[in-house]
Amino acid sequence: MSEHLKKEAARAALSELSSGMRIGLGTGSTAAHFVDLLGDMVAEGFACICVPTSEATARQARERNIALATLDEIERLDVTVDGTDEIDADFQLIKGGGGALLREKIVAAASDRMVVIADSSKRVEALGRFPLPVEVNAFGLGATLAAIRAVMAAHTAQGEAVIRQGADGGRFVTDGGHLIVDASFGRISDAKDLSHALLDIPGVVQHGLFLGLCQEAYLAAPDGVVRMSGGR
Ligand code: A5P
Repeated sequence: MSEHLKKEAARAALSELSSGMRIGLGTGSTAAHFVDLLGDMVAEGFACICVPTSEATARQARERNIALATLDEIERLDVTVDGTDEIDADFQLIKGGGGALLREKIVAAASDRMVVIADSSKRVEALGRFPLPVEVNAFGLGATLAAIRAVMAAHTAQGEAVIRQGADGGRFVTDGGHLIVDASFGRISDAKDLSHALLDIPGVVQHGLFLGLCQEAYLAAPDGVVRMSGGR
């Protein structure tokens, strides 16, 4: 069911595309449906050039013969289509469940528009039920973790900060060679302030709060896909 909804959200976002576009390709199971559907369009002659947000997405896009470029070759993109872990009414997001948040944020920020695709369970009243992924440098991890915990306490977090484990039982390592700390807040009341506080920690590379980046979302429920628009 959920895979079907993710695919319907991805399919709805195809209406955002037109020939010749420069497109950012997101990461995760929902974005993978979008890449797949885009691959079908490319096979039928649709022209586009895409920048992937992870090695996994790059592999999938190559398999589907989607033309790829880097942000060194193309500085600006027309649109990025990506999944999310949470989205609120103000188009604020938590991303990074798949660990690709740094490249996802770089690509979204280089795009004129970011379109989110998700099943409707990702729509929340307040961000924070999903643990916030924080990408950190491995150097000084203990000090960085302590600083993140201090920020969490100041923001009345109801949960813990834990270093993410990979499938092999070792530490999860991002495409950029960093680690992820998953910080459980329960409820985030001031996302902007929290964003600044986390970015003030030298060992923090980036975090999964996407603020002011998303303009539109396609959220799929069993009774249809709802389009949210108007984000800044
Ligand atoms: C990847 O790092 C994430 O930001 C994903 O976009 C997010 O976790 C959504 O993934 P799913 O589409 O698999 O739920």
